[in-house]
Amino acid sequence: MNYSDYFNPEVETMSEDRLKALQLERLQKTVHHCMNSPFYQKKFQELGITPEDIKTLDDVQKLPFTSKEDLRENYPFGLACVPMKDCVRLHSSSGTTGNPTVVLHTQKDLDEWANAVARCLWMVGSRPEDVFQNSAGYGMFTAGLGFQYGAEKVGMLTVPAAAGNTIRQIKFIKDFGTTVLHAIPSYASRIYEVMKEEGIDPRKDTKLRVLCIGAEPHSEEQRQRIEQNLGVKAYNSYGISEMMGPGVAFECQEQNGLHIWEDYFIVEIIDPVTLKPVPDGQLGELVLTTINREAMPLLRYRTRDLTRILPGECPCGRHHRRLARLQGRSDDMMILKGVNIFPIQIEKILLGFKELNTDYLITLETVDSNDIMTIDVELNQMFTDDYNRLKSLEREITRQLKDEILITPRVRLIPKGSLVVSDEKKAVRVKDLRKLF
Ligand code: COA
Ligand code: ZN
Repeated sequence: MNYSDYFNPEVETMSEDRLKALQLERLQKTVHHCMNSPFYQKKFQELGITPEDIKTLDDVQKLPFTSKEDLRENYPFGLACVPMKDCVRLHSSSGTTGNPTVVLHTQKDLDEWANAVARCLWMVGSRPEDVFQNSAGYGMFTAGLGFQYGAEKVGMLTVPAAAGNTIRQIKFIKDFGTTVLHAIPSYASRIYEVMKEEGIDPRKDTKLRVLCIGAEPHSEEQRQRIEQNLGVKAYNSYGISEMMGPGVAFECQEQNGLHIWEDYFIVEIIDPVTLKPVPDGQLGELVLTTINREAMPLLRYRTRDLTRILPGECPCGRHHRRLARLQGRSDDMMILKGVNIFPIQIEKILLGFKELNTDYLITLETVDSNDIMTIDVELNQMFTDDYNRLKSLEREITRQLKDEILITPRVRLIPKGSLVVSDEKKAVRVKDLRKLF
């Protein structure tokens, strides 16, 4: 491999030993820094540990776990480790019924984040000559600004198209000569379908060659289909807003597992029930400790994403270990249209309507290459014939749900007793019938 194949050659090709030494140094610094937050002070006291107890990398297991609930309970700024005057941006999850999660960034955090994304984009062959188009939502979605700054750092011409408006998206791809595109897998398929309808052949009529796909779990077959359809190489991307956003792990050109940047994170894979580490190579929950963040470092953050470490060296020369493609979640979070949604968010909105019963069913399906969510919910009283009243109730429920979960569901009000609710303790509330194609 040639050194121009790396964005940060020194760190990317660092030997395992040097990488571990760097990790320990950064971990110790981070743990001391965490003592600036009352949240971690208290957690350390409860466990009877001090930052001095972290003497080796294995000592990471002495540290407390941090969960999404911790972020919610300490909303909005309870986990900050720097004064507010040093923070320059925050990103927040959706939701108003409970507390959303907030992640704070200093300027250095943003620079490091852009560096991580640039590293990923360079790794898959993007260069300053390329034109990069981002179809992620901007604003609070970290994939918007996250990819934006990373692509600028590479030096590409960037097209911050943002989500939706597929016809315009395709016009940009053609007119601006987009070569590198970021889109979630289902939206990449949607773009292809609309191109077909418009009589556009992506292989002949566009310059697309690299596609970055993440957010939704997808199979190898699905990736290959997208690659064939669009005439691109598609690379899997992993990001999580609590760590920063995109740029946490990314496939290299080997397309065999996602290198996780171990100079930024300490990786553990645990059994989500016993919370103990699983043997190397076994499936478990990904737990990450940030070792390169200022505003809001997180210790042993439980991502709830299920994956495993791929054994062996990667021929690309990077020693940062590889995660297998994601296999699902250890909680009930759904991902639709690249948006993370918890059933409880929907339940809480429905509970606010006295006209509704407590029984509901969420169905996720793909119709005409669009992913949609349908919510069947039982009415409380006998079905009324007042069509207008029912329609306006449906509209109001839809509006409140859209505010909460950011996508527009289809709401169907159905007569009491018409849903078949299972007798089991945990009734089936979500039916996922989606196919990516
Ligand atoms: N990225 C880009 N566009 C998307 C998308 C996604 N993840 N999901 C859906 N879309 C498109 C739809 O195809 C539709 O396109 P059209 O204008 O050509 O018809 C348009 O966005 C609106 O979608 P629709 O399903 O009608 O609306 P909605 O009210 O349910 O909206 C979005 C949802 C698109 C605004 C919302 O899903 C969104 O912002 N998604 C992006 C999330 C994101 O970027 N996540 C990070 C991914 S790494
Ligand atoms: Zn590699």
